[in-house]
Amino acid sequence: MGLKSNLLVLVMVFGALGSAPLMAEAQFNIIGSLLKLINIQGTVFCTADGNIGTNATSTPVFPNALVQLQCGNGNIVSTTTTNNGGIFSMFLNPVQFVLSSLLSNCNLVVKTPISDCNATLPSTGFLTSSLQFLGSFVQDGLMQIMKVAPNPFTFIPSP
Ligand SMILES: *[C@@H]1O[C@H](CO)[C@@H](O)[C@H](O)[C@H]1NC(C)=O
Ligand SMILES: *[C@@H]1O[C@H](CO)[C@@H](O)[C@H](O)[C@H]1NC(C)=O
Repeated sequence: MGLKSNLLVLVMVFGALGSAPLMAEAQFNIIGSLLKLINIQGTVFCTADGNIGTNATSTPVFPNALVQLQCGNGNIVSTTTTNNGGIFSMFLNPVQFVLSSLLSNCNLVVKTPISDCNATLPSTGFLTSSLQFLGSFVQDGLMQIMKVAPNPFTFIPSP
């Protein structure tokens, strides 16, 4: 919404400044530098492995779980929390994060013990997942979102 009105103002300014070709060029340049974002989004389920059960509609989710993006040797690059639906979402700037190295070098780690959502589940160990690229989507004609999702989570018991 805000972006759209900013773009409109820019186009109006360029329009006022010069000829129609200049305006077209200005528009092209703005569109050529579409705001690019990497969005990592997924759902953590309240199960022993963090994944959806066979009965998809009734699998409980894991709300308020701290999810970290760790890269390389455990560098914490981004942190977020799942919402009431167990959904987390992180945005990264592709200027700072190359997609291919994100996919090869980074993992999601659920820091909150899974016993927090179900006391019969372990209170130590953690869920982790590597990442997969879903595709690039243009949103509102202004943003190019590179969508990344977790592969199925794995439970790593504490040593
Ligand atoms: C799946 O969940 C629904 C709703 O809780 C339940 O009625 C149904 O029996 C379940 N199906 C299986 C195969 O467990
Ligand atoms: C809690 O986890 C246990 C073991 O996985 C499961 O049998 C039980 O149904 C879960 N309870 C809830 C409320 O999800």
